[in-house]
Amino acid sequence: MIIEPRMRGFICLTAHPVGCAQNVKNQIEYVKSKGKIDGAKKVLVIGASTGFGLASRITSAFGCDASTIGVFFEKEPSEGKTATPGWYNTAAFETEAHNAGLYAKSINGDAFSDEIKNQTIELIKKDLGQVDLVIYSLASPVRMHPKTGVLHRSSLKPIGQKFTNKTVDFHTGNVSEVSIEPANQEDIDNTVVVMGGEDWSMWMNAMKAAGVLAVGATTVAYSYIGPEVTEAVYRKGTIGRAKDHLEATAFDITKDLASISGQAYVSVNKALVTQASSAIPVIPLYISLLYKTMKEKGLHEGCIEQMQRLYADRLYTNTIPLDDKGRIRIDDWEMRDDVQEQVAKLWKVAETENLSEIGDLAGYKNDFLNLFGFGFDGVDYQADANEMTLIPSIQ
Ligand code: NAI
Ligand code: NA
Repeated sequence: MIIEPRMRGFICLTAHPVGCAQNVKNQIEYVKSKGKIDGAKKVLVIGASTGFGLASRITSAFGCDASTIGVFFEKEPSEGKTATPGWYNTAAFETEAHNAGLYAKSINGDAFSDEIKNQTIELIKKDLGQVDLVIYSLASPVRMHPKTGVLHRSSLKPIGQKFTNKTVDFHTGNVSEVSIEPANQEDIDNTVVVMGGEDWSMWMNAMKAAGVLAVGATTVAYSYIGPEVTEAVYRKGTIGRAKDHLEATAFDITKDLASISGQAYVSVNKALVTQASSAIPVIPLYISLLYKTMKEKGLHEGCIEQMQRLYADRLYTNTIPLDDKGRIRIDDWEMRDDVQEQVAKLWKVAETENLSEIGDLAGYKNDFLNLFGFGFDGVDYQADANEMTLIPSIQ
């Protein structure tokens, strides 16, 4: 069938298998062009199918020649209905990895559950014995707690007071004012349960107990800080409390892994268009101004450039450079004074009429389409595409 983007709010209901495969190939080519990284050889990526997790898996495989196991939650296709992009991304990744002689297998299911943790551990035991790197890159609006069975929902709300600022509907380019009511304590607690560090720590403890972590194993989870204009809804909001918790959990995990000399890190990454970030109010406007500024300065990066740099210049160097809170910073170019000053200036004047000029709205839209396999050069979108092809080797 001819597959076209079908937008509904912050998501696209369709995904293009050939386009998703092109996206993965482009990322692989980028990593290969940067040369080999002397890094991990056996890697588990939790949240491996899209965004930073997919880029981490690609960097592990094609930068470090690593065997990879990927865990994710994606929908398979049915006749006439496409899969979610992460399904096609993974199938394409596995094909490329296998062609390159690299081990790659995947597990599709709820990473928050005991069942998926056990299944993953069994697969590691059977095929790899142990892993030396665990990337934790989940982004989810909900978590079913494995011990209580309670379904927790995260929220994206300010804390303490109502927050009003500009936002953009990136489909139409319409800039408007948005007001978000403050969170109550329950909202905060739920967001910490979903996006905080508890599940990461559960994964690492279960893996250690099962003996599937190599001596000196490293684990990395991803966080975000960002500018003052998004602070109320991001870093000082409900999601920020979850990130505080995630960052604190890194120190707990390092303690828990002391007997095998394991290390847990949080890497603070750059703001990028992903399925997760598109749903956060205010952030898309900030990203479109940031993209414009960083592209002008020759500093722009996507997920793959970020992850390649994380591995090559941070994780696998003699000593991992950390900030005063013990975090890895790969948001260093985003947070540069000249970049932030420029974005702050643009923020003050941004409106519907000038956004396509002072902001990179086109770049935002293109990146959003790319997430679903649309908008790639070299893909014939008028051609018949088979939504049922491209099947990952789900275990
Ligand atoms: P994404 O939406 O592209 O990826 C999320 C991944 O988690 C996918 O592989 C998805 O299948 C998987 N997943 C979701 N729920 C799951 C579940 N219940 N079980 C198994 N897998 C599940 O998100 P993105 O943006 O790559 O986010 C990853 C991490 O990076 C998050 O912690 C996010 O906060 C962080 N981050 C994101 C930034 C951004 O601007 N996008 C900036 C800095 C950090
Ligand atoms: Na991810």
